[in-house]
Amino acid sequence: MKVPFLDLKPQYRRIEAALKPRFEEIMAAGAFIGGPEVEAFEAEFAAFCETKYCVGVSSGTDALRFALLACGIGPGDEVITVPHTFIATTEAITQAGARPVFVDVDPATSTLDPGRLEEAITPRTRAVIPVHLYGRPADMAPILEIAGRRNLLVIEDACQAHGARYRGKRAGSMGQAGCFSFYPGKNLGAFGDAGALVTDDPEIARRARMLREHGQSRKYYHDTEGYTGRLDALQAAVLRLKLAFLEEGNRARRENARRYDERLADIPGLSVIPDGDQDVEPVYHLYVVFVDDREGLQEHLSRSGVGTGLHYPLPLHLQRAYAGMGHRRGDFPVSEHLADRLLSLPMYPEISPAEIDYVVSCIRSFQEGRA
Ligand SMILES: Cc1ncc(COP(=O)(O)O)c(C=O)c1O
Repeated sequence: MKVPFLDLKPQYRRIEAALKPRFEEIMAAGAFIGGPEVEAFEAEFAAFCETKYCVGVSSGTDALRFALLACGIGPGDEVITVPHTFIATTEAITQAGARPVFVDVDPATSTLDPGRLEEAITPRTRAVIPVHLYGRPADMAPILEIAGRRNLLVIEDACQAHGARYRGKRAGSMGQAGCFSFYPGKNLGAFGDAGALVTDDPEIARRARMLREHGQSRKYYHDTEGYTGRLDALQAAVLRLKLAFLEEGNRARRENARRYDERLADIPGLSVIPDGDQDVEPVYHLYVVFVDDREGLQEHLSRSGVGTGLHYPLPLHLQRAYAGMGHRRGDFPVSEHLADRLLSLPMYPEISPAEIDYVVSCIRSFQEGRA
């Protein structure tokens, strides 16, 4: 049996018939940038996230960068985040002119450890970016409490967490702004690069709208310099059609995760991130296991026809791009430990129970051979 790491074709087939006439209309109208399709998507995604505003942009990285800039963060400021994330989180911080400061993650959840947050705060700290990694919301109550007490802004990196909830609240709706990526493989994925920022703050929304469009408040009147960072109409059309299936897809992902959880539970030398407690409703953008011989298991699965991924194999503080920060191995031991052992298994709404069982049986044969 062959089980790909990700298969986007079933999602396309679901919207294919409805999408083609929409594309025809957009192309016939020649309205490719902005316009009614983008505005309708923004209204629908804001409603989905239970926020007042949504600003469609051209990627998750732009959403993060525009959120920071719209909050007035820039040179001289420090922004706290985790080293166990995709580099876009810190690229947005440095590209806004600020300095990233790392806090290690909680070993049980792979998200920011709130117990370590206060020790990283300095007089220059302006904001914290918790990352809802793998679709599991970070432990937001203590993060929001500390941020409120220490006068810090909270910008959520919800790029992997479309539709997840924390104590009933949507990922992206708890801080000053929430940032989403619609990269094709995400739970809500476009047919190329796209992203969005959601917020309840009209001023942040207004500034983000200006930043995505060269800082203009009206055509050719520029209050600041900005960027080419818009969401286009064809992507908005794809996203609107796919948004209708997002809850259903997330439910299927949770069921798939439960099946993995149950069947992996007695396999020696393997651990998983515990399923959500009452506080957390994850959406399993990724399903990740932790083993000692990650390379060996990955190779065994590859030989057995099973695709896997690594999210992410080297924490940011050890990346060459951040050599200038002066960090060393041992500075963030939890992130390092997880990065050395993690392996992402096939996960998408349409993966079948038989495919999951096959992946588990391959893992079992490898792990039991080692035990
Ligand atoms: C956690 C995280 N943050 C930020 C991003 C950046 O999103 P994009 O690739 O759309 O710029 C991603 C997407 O890959 C991500 O997974």
